[in-house]
Amino acid sequence: MPLKEKFPEHIGIIMDGNGRWAASRGLPRMEGHRRGAERAKEIILAAKDLGVRALTLYIFSLENWQRPQAEIAVLMKLLEIYLQREMYEFRKEGIRFRAIGEMWKLPKGVQRLITETEGLTSACARMDLIAAISYSGRNEILRAVKKAIASGADGELDESRFSAFLDTAGVPEPDLIIRTSGERRISNFLLWQSAYAEFYFTDTFWPDFGKEELVRAIEDYQMRERRFGAVKL
Ligand code: IPE
Ligand code: IPE
Ligand code: MG
Repeated sequence: MPLKEKFPEHIGIIMDGNGRWAASRGLPRMEGHRRGAERAKEIILAAKDLGVRALTLYIFSLENWQRPQAEIAVLMKLLEIYLQREMYEFRKEGIRFRAIGEMWKLPKGVQRLITETEGLTSACARMDLIAAISYSGRNEILRAVKKAIASGADGELDESRFSAFLDTAGVPEPDLIIRTSGERRISNFLLWQSAYAEFYFTDTFWPDFGKEELVRAIEDYQMRERRFGAVKL
């Protein structure tokens, strides 16, 4: 069990490698996505049990809309089935659900389920689950700039006030960002918010990422010294 001290309040996960997990077993990519969704459920509950306050999962990027229609359709269907199945479980577990990104691009049915899940879990207080769907960091920053301009923000606008225009308003910045599947890049995830995040990269494909590895990532994080640009005396 990780120590209670220096515990990451907010963890972000770039859940990558579903397709390669499937290919390495001679299975269709869809099977990787299905297994990935099961894994997400396990990791959400594990994070909550460990005492994580906020968990952001990168589920679908704006760039992912470029994938073949058939794959997008499978992902949207999975999302629908998943939300339908889990929304009451989230509420039971005290998990407050919130989605960030360009929701209007999603099929109407998925949008409705997202709104329903957000409403159903709005009073939950054990952990915030932030689902980045149809999301990209640059797009989020650009939309925030437009909102700031529309609000008449002037020279008073500083970093903290600007953050309130982001989709993640009110959520503390991520302390730890995990990326599975061996890729070592950010792929447009939480660009503004990750300025001082610690990164944990693992070769494990997302469908194989279990609770033990989440604990390892947290323990690794706890060994780090975060300086935020200052000198440690
Ligand atoms: C992550 O797995 C899930 C999504 C991006 C939707 P991938 O589908 O990117 O799997 P790989 O990277 O091709 O293995
Ligand atoms: C990032 O994975 C997006 C999600 C995990 C949802 P990708 O597989 O889309 O990223 P790239 O293309 O390898 O950078
Ligand atoms: Mg990928």
